[in-house]
Amino acid sequence: MAILKVRIGSLELSNPVIAASGTFGYGMEFAERLDLAAIGAFSTKGLSLKPRGGNPMPRICETPCGMINSIGLENVGVDAFEMDKLPAIRKSGAKVIANFFGETEEEYTELARRLDAMDGVHALEMNVSCPNVEKGGIEFGSDPAFLEKLTAGVKKVCGKPLIVKLSPNVADIKPFAKAVENGGGDAISAINTLKGMSVDVKTRRPRIKRVIGGLSGPAIKPVAVRMVYECARTVKIPVIGLGGIASLDDALEFLIAGATAVQVGTMNFVEPGICQRLAEELNAYCEKEKIADIASLIGSLITE
Ligand SMILES: Cc1cc2nc3c(=O)[nH]c(=O)nc-3n(C[C@H](O)[C@H](O)[C@H](O)COP(=O)(O)O)c2cc1C
Repeated sequence: MAILKVRIGSLELSNPVIAASGTFGYGMEFAERLDLAAIGAFSTKGLSLKPRGGNPMPRICETPCGMINSIGLENVGVDAFEMDKLPAIRKSGAKVIANFFGETEEEYTELARRLDAMDGVHALEMNVSCPNVEKGGIEFGSDPAFLEKLTAGVKKVCGKPLIVKLSPNVADIKPFAKAVENGGGDAISAINTLKGMSVDVKTRRPRIKRVIGGLSGPAIKPVAVRMVYECARTVKIPVIGLGGIASLDDALEFLIAGATAVQVGTMNFVEPGICQRLAEELNAYCEKEKIADIASLIGSLITE
């Protein structure tokens, strides 16, 4: 067996394949389709302090090589997560990354404090792509100085590894990666969905009720690989790469470009067992290529 173990801050994962937030429910929904303990970890649907109903339908549509969603961060809320979801997850042996978001700095901090105290939550993933009500709807992740302050504030109340998930909807992602590192974040995950839009020409209506949504799936992979490469060259903390991963080669692309681990999102809807398959294929690949430790693959891009 090749060594596939990777570290995200103080958290050790048995392999670098993680199921991405919003595409894997609260984990147990997938327990019949794969062994939750056989994948590196999974990230929960984004959690908020209070339950949220989400946006009006239609809120997903297919696009060439991808999909657009505008779910609106629907979730059960942190209390129901702890009481109804976490006990079963704990028994499954899964490594759990709790994805969370708030509308104010205080909400972010309060959620981090709550999740940090939960037995069975191994790391936190802070989604900064949602609008800041106090700043007039500007996304938390669209101002590096503010992102650094938010990260530092959250890190103060959180002993578990804090992953900050970056939005790709910025001209230059590097200052945001640096802001996370300067704020004391333990890792970066990149990327969240790209803003997209699709029109039904017969009805002349947008395919998503809210008109604009988030594009994901294989269509965004080259953009994601580029941003992961840029982040990994900018910071020393680990970068978790995601965006369009559908095969072993896709995962390898991210690792070679500098990702310490990868997440699989949209493709879970097509193949619910994909994360376990990719973890197994990664092991077989390393054995075949005589790669004793996955660490030697990470950031091994040759550019000259
Ligand atoms: C239906 C859907 C819901 C999502 N919900 C969340 C979420 O709650 N929090 C979050 O950080 N990212 C969320 N995402 C973004 C994914 O985790 C991922 O960053 C993005 O889809 C790119 O990866 P992919 O191309 O492999 O899907 C969601 C994506 C989809 C498709």
